[in-house]
Amino acid sequence: MQHLQQLVIEAIETSHFPETPTNLYDPIRYILTLGGKRVRPVLTLMAAELFGMQEMTEIIPAAKAVEFFHNFSLIHDDLMDKAPLRRGKTTVHEKWDANIAILSGDGLLVKAYEEISKCNPIYLPATLRILSKVAMEVCEGQQLDMDYESRTSLGMDEYLEMIRLKTSVLLGGALQLGAILSGANEQQQQLIYDFGENVGLAFQLQDDILDAYGDSDTFGKIVGGDIMINKKTFLLVKLMEVITEDDVAAMRSLLDSTIDSTPTKVADMLALYDKYQVKKSADELKDLYTQRAFEKMDALDVPNERKQALLLLANNLLVRQQ
Ligand code: IPE
Ligand code: IPE
Ligand code: MG
Ligand code: MG
Ligand code: MG
Repeated sequence: MQHLQQLVIEAIETSHFPETPTNLYDPIRYILTLGGKRVRPVLTLMAAELFGMQEMTEIIPAAKAVEFFHNFSLIHDDLMDKAPLRRGKTTVHEKWDANIAILSGDGLLVKAYEEISKCNPIYLPATLRILSKVAMEVCEGQQLDMDYESRTSLGMDEYLEMIRLKTSVLLGGALQLGAILSGANEQQQQLIYDFGENVGLAFQLQDDILDAYGDSDTFGKIVGGDIMINKKTFLLVKLMEVITEDDVAAMRSLLDSTIDSTPTKVADMLALYDKYQVKKSADELKDLYTQRAFEKMDALDVPNERKQALLLLANNLLVRQQ
């Protein structure tokens, strides 16, 4: 796994972009060298390995495409979420401005397609189809995420579909790209995609948990950021579901307040989360999705020893702290 991560980091960080216009390419260079876990491109390589591919150089462009797409989505996501911090550093729209974040993000999306165009031509129609499908679904999920910010009520089913789209499909797609490029059949592709989607659901639940309970020294984003902007995370949706009559008014008034008008907004909301033990519910659901992911992996027709690395990664993502 570390070897694959090293391959990916090197490929991404040695990517060459023109010098000018600096306001277009500097933000691209900036976001790509900020680090990050590189989970998605590693998944692409791991899936290829799972299905017996030994030569990783053939898979690298697809892995880069996935990470470029992810970083494009982060630049735009931070603008949309008004987030000041990403991977422990100032976000692109804060370091430059909103217009520059829009265009450099767009540029990175184009670069993702340029990378995927370099993959084995036999598989190009299939990889293009999957990247495009997943990319559009991420946009759908992002729009729902924005629409839901101002909703006064949200069903758990709506929340889960929103995170499936904004986050999980890209983990599934990253794996499916690796499977396609190593010649896996469609049934096997579907199983590894489903494994990724379930891991992705657990991944976004952990993301929601960390946003409220993370350690600001290691998290790399603003802890409490979701609470500040009334983001409909699992924790908030669950709270709305289980809260009793006597606390509803307090919750509503917190949702009506801003961090400027009520500096204790985050602490007060966390107190409600704790009272109703919504983090515990999140942990339970995370475990359920991980279990489902493991069932998909079980059904895959490859030797067990080859599955171990992906199972280990899925477990590590569950307890990640950043
Ligand atoms: C952040 O993704 C966006 C989500 C889908 C939660 P990561 O947590 O993978 O971010 P990096 O790439 O490691 O910074
Ligand atoms: C992640 O949602 C979805 C995408 C980036 C497409 P979040 O808004 O929760 O991601 P973070 O927490 O800012 O990384
Ligand atoms: Mg965000
Ligand atoms: Mg967001
Ligand atoms: Mg988040």
